[in-house]
Amino acid sequence: MSIIYYPDHQVFKLDTNQTTYAFRVDEYGYLEQLHFGGRISDGAEAAALGFRLFRSFCPYPDGGTPLLSRDHMAQEYSTHAVGDYRTAAAIVRTADGVNSTDLKYVSHRIYSGKKPLPGLPASFATPESPAETLEIVLIDAVSQVEFILSYSVFACCDVIARSVRVVNRSPRPVYLEKVMSCCLALPNRPLDLITLDGSYARERHVTRAALRQGTQSVGSRRTSSSHQHNPAFMLADRTATEESGEAWGVCLVYSGSFLCEVELDQFNRSRSCAGIHPEDFEWELPPGGEFQAPEALLAYSDGGLSKLSHHFHDVLRRNLCRRQWSGRKRPVLVNNWEATYFDFNAEKLLNIAAAAAELGIEMMVLDDGWFGKRDDDRSSLGDWFVNAAKIGELGELVGRINALGIKFGLWFEPEMISENSELFRLHPEWVLTAPGRVRSLGRHQLVLNMAEPAVVDYLFAAISRILASANIEYVKWDMNRQPAEMYSPSLPPERQKELGHRYVLGVYELHRRLLEAFPELLIEGCSGGGGRFDAGMLYYAPQIWTSDNTDAIERLKIQAGTSLFYPASSLGAHVSACPNHQTGRMTPLETRGNVALAGTFGYEMDLATLNEAEREIVRRQLDDFHRFHPIIANGDLYRLTDPFGNCDYTAWEFVSKDGSEALLFYVVAHHYAHEEPRLFRLRGLQPERRYRVVESGLVLYGDTLMNAGLPMPEVPGDGASWHFQLKLVDKA
Ligand code: DGJ
Repeated sequence: MSIIYYPDHQVFKLDTNQTTYAFRVDEYGYLEQLHFGGRISDGAEAAALGFRLFRSFCPYPDGGTPLLSRDHMAQEYSTHAVGDYRTAAAIVRTADGVNSTDLKYVSHRIYSGKKPLPGLPASFATPESPAETLEIVLIDAVSQVEFILSYSVFACCDVIARSVRVVNRSPRPVYLEKVMSCCLALPNRPLDLITLDGSYARERHVTRAALRQGTQSVGSRRTSSSHQHNPAFMLADRTATEESGEAWGVCLVYSGSFLCEVELDQFNRSRSCAGIHPEDFEWELPPGGEFQAPEALLAYSDGGLSKLSHHFHDVLRRNLCRRQWSGRKRPVLVNNWEATYFDFNAEKLLNIAAAAAELGIEMMVLDDGWFGKRDDDRSSLGDWFVNAAKIGELGELVGRINALGIKFGLWFEPEMISENSELFRLHPEWVLTAPGRVRSLGRHQLVLNMAEPAVVDYLFAAISRILASANIEYVKWDMNRQPAEMYSPSLPPERQKELGHRYVLGVYELHRRLLEAFPELLIEGCSGGGGRFDAGMLYYAPQIWTSDNTDAIERLKIQAGTSLFYPASSLGAHVSACPNHQTGRMTPLETRGNVALAGTFGYEMDLATLNEAEREIVRRQLDDFHRFHPIIANGDLYRLTDPFGNCDYTAWEFVSKDGSEALLFYVVAHHYAHEEPRLFRLRGLQPERRYRVVESGLVLYGDTLMNAGLPMPEVPGDGASWHFQLKLVDKA
C-alpha cells in the first residue's frame, strides 16, 4: 500500500520507495501540508509537524483561533479565503463577483491504478510500474464549487502525480481565474530555485539562484511551453550538488502557457505552484460543468540533483511516453534539412537515402518543402498535398527508399498556415486574428485556430490522407511560431481567455486522433527546435528535437540542462556537418557523434558527400549506438561536470540500473597548453566489484573508480572527445 489514511489524526501518508508525502485535515477542515521528504513510518506522528503559533498581522477565521491563521499555515492547496495573502493555487469568482474560495475537506477515496485525464496527456499506471490514487474532495460551501485533488503514487519511480478537477455544483456559472495543478509548501530553510531558461537555439540552460523573500517565477504566455522557459523547476538546498543534498522537483505535463511560481513568505517558508498561466486564462464553468487542470509530477531526492533527475527520467520513460515507443529502440535517422534546406528533388533525396542505407542508417526523414508549392518559407503551410513536380509521386519515392532497406519519415507543421496557400484562400476565417488589430507574422506564417473543431477535422483528414498514401513510419511535428492574436469568433467576448487552453487541447486532440488511426507511428515533436519540449508533448511524441542548434559544443549545455528532467531517450540529437550551420564552429566528427549519442541519435547532413575515412567513423558511431543503446535509453545519467560553471570540458556517465555497466563521455571544448590530464570519479557503480575499461583493458574496483577516479588521456586539442565503456569483470 502506497497510500495510508490515519483516521484518528486525519493524516494522509503517501509513500514511494524512498519518500513520504504527508498532509492532514486540520481543525477547520482545511488541508495542511506536513512533509515531503525522506520516508517516515508512522503517519500519525506527522500530525505533530504543523506549527500552531500566534503571528501578528495574520488574520484568522471569526470564532477561531489566531494560532491557526491561513496566512502562515502550510496549505495543501492554497486560496485567498480568510486572509491568506500569499499566492493562491486557485481563484474562483462567483456570479456575484466574490473570489474568496474557501475549500474544506468533504471526503476522500483511495483506489489502485490511475484514471486518464479527459483531453489531456497524463501519466498512466502499467503492470511493471503500478500506481495507487488518492482523490480528495474539497468544497467551498458558499459557492458550491468542488475541487477534487488527485494524487497518484508511482512507488517504484519515486514520483507523485498531482492534478485538480473543478466541478460547479451550484445553479449559477462560476469563473475560474486561476487553477494551478499543484501547490507545494516547504519549511523554513535556505533554498535555491533551479529553472531551465534560454532562447531559440539556446534552450534550457540551467539557472540557479538563491530564493529570496517575495515571488520568483518563470512562465510562458506564448500558448506553447516555449524556448525561453521550461514548465519544470527544482528547489534544492543551497549546498546541494549533483550528488548530495536534498532537492525537490516539479514537472508540469502541459504544453501551453504556464506559470511556475515560488513565493518565500515572511517566515522564509516557500510555497510553489505550477499550472496554466493565469494571466491569459479564465474559464466559465456552467452549472454542473467540470474543468480538468493539467497534471504535475513531483519528486524528492536526498541524493542531489542527479538522483532527482533519475526519478523524473524513470517516470517519463515508464509511465508517460506512449507505451508503443517508451522502451523501444528508435530508428537511427538521417534528416535532409541541413543537407538541402528547401532545395531538393527526388534524386537528391534518393542519393542521401542510398548513402544512409549503405552506412546502416535506418530511416530517412524528408523535412520541410515537400508539399504545396513550397520552395521557401513564404508559402503553402496548410496545403498538405504532395508537390509531385518536385519529388514525384510520394508512394513511389517512399517505395524506392524502402527498397534500399530503410524506413521513411515525413515533416509536417500542422498548426500553421501561409497566407499564400490554398487553405488560406478557402478558409481565411481559420486563422487566429483579432478583429481590427494588426496581425502578427512569424517566419511569414500565421497560426490556425486549433480550438476550432473544423480545423482539427481538416488537419486530421489531410494528414491521414498523406500517411495512408505511403509507408510513412515517423512524423516530425514542427511549430515554427507561436500564436499572438488570441481571439476566436466562436467564443463570446467574455470567454476569449479560454482560447489559449482550448488551442492546446486542440493540438492534443489532433495528436490523439492521428495516433489512434496510426498506432505504430513514431512522432518526433519540434518547435523551431526545442520550443515545445515538455512532458505534455512527450506523452504523444516520445522524442523531441532538442534544439535547432546542432553544434556539438553548444549542445553540451542544451542537453545537460534538458537532462535535468527529461531522459536521453527523449532528446532528438543529430550529427551535423561542419562548419556548423548555427555557429560556424569546426568540431571533429567523433565528437559530434559522442554528443549525439546522449540523445536519440541521427544525422542531419548530406551523407553522400562524406569521404571514406568519414564513412568509417560513421559506421563506428552506428556500432556504438547499437551497443550502447540499452544503457543510454534505460540507465541512470550522472552529470559529472557542470557545463554552465565550466565550459572548458564536460563529462557525463550512464550506468545500467544494476550497476553492472557504465559509459563515460568526456568532451574538451577548450584545451589549455601544458595542461594536466584529468581524473573523473564515476558514480553508481558497485564498490566492491571490479570493472574492465573496454577501450584500455584497465581493470579497477568500483570504489577506486568512484572514490579515486578514472584517468583521462592527454588532450590533443580543442573539441577532442572520448567514451569509455566499463563492464563488471567478476561474478558477485
Ligand atoms: C524548424 C526545425 O527545427 C528544423 O529542424 C526544420 O524542420 C525547419 N523548421 C523546417 O522548416
